[in-house]
Amino acid sequence: MGIKVGMVGVGAFAQSFIPLFTAHPLVDQITLCDLDAEKLRENAAKHQINDTSPSLDHLISTDVDAVAVITQNWLHAPQAVQALRAGKHVYSAVPTGVTQDEITELVKTVEETGQIYMIGETSYYYPGVVYCRKQHEQGAFGDIVYSEGEYYHDWDHGLYDVMKWRGGDRWMEFAGSPPMYYPTHTTSQIISITGAHMTHVSCQGFVDHHKDGIYKPGVNLWNNTFSNESALFKMSDGSSCRINEFRRIGHPGTVRMAMFGTEGSFEHNSAGAIWVNKQADQSLRLDDQLACRERPAISGTSSEEAMDKVTASDGTHLSVAAVHDTSRLPKEFIGLPNGHAGSHQFLVDDFVRACHNNLLPPNNVWMAARYAIPGIIAHDSACQGGVLLEIPDYGDPPGKGR
Ligand SMILES: NC(=O)c1ccc[n+]([C@@H]2O[C@H](COP(=O)([O-])OP(=O)(O)OC[C@H]3O[C@@H](n4cnc5c(N)ncnc54)[C@H](O)[C@@H]3O)[C@@H](O)[C@H]2O)c1
Repeated sequence: MGIKVGMVGVGAFAQSFIPLFTAHPLVDQITLCDLDAEKLRENAAKHQINDTSPSLDHLISTDVDAVAVITQNWLHAPQAVQALRAGKHVYSAVPTGVTQDEITELVKTVEETGQIYMIGETSYYYPGVVYCRKQHEQGAFGDIVYSEGEYYHDWDHGLYDVMKWRGGDRWMEFAGSPPMYYPTHTTSQIISITGAHMTHVSCQGFVDHHKDGIYKPGVNLWNNTFSNESALFKMSDGSSCRINEFRRIGHPGTVRMAMFGTEGSFEHNSAGAIWVNKQADQSLRLDDQLACRERPAISGTSSEEAMDKVTASDGTHLSVAAVHDTSRLPKEFIGLPNGHAGSHQFLVDDFVRACHNNLLPPNNVWMAARYAIPGIIAHDSACQGGVLLEIPDYGDPPGKGR
């Protein structure tokens, strides 16, 4: 028997996930839920789903097993706690939460209830991250010395519209949140490769002067004046890590990382990605391996093997890279939408399998806390001119000591 999933928030981002949860063979029933009755009606018709619920408060009184929270970015942690306390498993869009207290409460709630929680962190499945995780497992980096995570998204690239539909009349209050309060796309890349976490931080902020006034004192709820923040972290494995969260930047936009070890290094910038070691003639260009495109699906083979057997194809996986193991995905996902560098289908599959088989998902609550809290403390540091601050840690998942 499959699970019953309630999807809370049927806005823009949920459009990518409703078809995937619906198609997953271990999901028996989908309920759509939104406070906006008109949006709910439209989505029920569009996705041909009969079961609807007018609010999270109502949804958790029904018999759904799991709730996917895809609501505005400042609402997640309290909503996740509410659903977990009602006995539901929770999938949450990023970020985990926006205060240390609410993330503490989230971790405590998972520990007390034993319910499954997974953060929907797209970067975890980015091709460069998948590649580096494998290199790290095989020891190719040696000891990690230094790493970088970058999320560049300028306001001119659609962000005004996004914040207007999320915040409505009050959008200016939410728009200027500290960039480091949305750090999971960057931190998760480094943490999920090495398993090390941030222990200390010193951060600097760029005071914004743009005429839109988003970061003017007194305009946003956090009284934040920084549109760009750069943090240097000390990591638990002895390495250091620099994270850039930029929202005002002359750049086309990116989510990417680089990592340097005593034996080998991965570099990625706008010109492409490369693996290098001490031998100048052994560098390996990775652009082709990491590029997302349509790839033929052949049951029981890895995607790299599948690429060589195009004629034997029994369908097409959309927007995946050669480093993605599409053979583990349900065949029902073939031809369905994917997004954010091939991540959407893996996210849904990891969560549904975790709920159905009572497994710890990769991006569990302990990881979700490690992705988010360093950014919250980094912003505190930036507000104090870069003073070095310690980062609280809630430990490894039970039974997973390192
Ligand atoms: N790469 C990524 O991981 C990525 C990319 C895009 C968006 N996101 C995340 O997805 C989330 C959603 O973004 P969006 O643009 O779709 O937002 P949106 O405003 O379009 O949709 C959010 C919806 O949630 C509903 N909602 C809020 N509280 C509710 C409640 N208590 N009960 C029922 N419905 C409720 C709202 O009515 C709204 O329709 C954000 O948190 C964002 O951070 C992540």
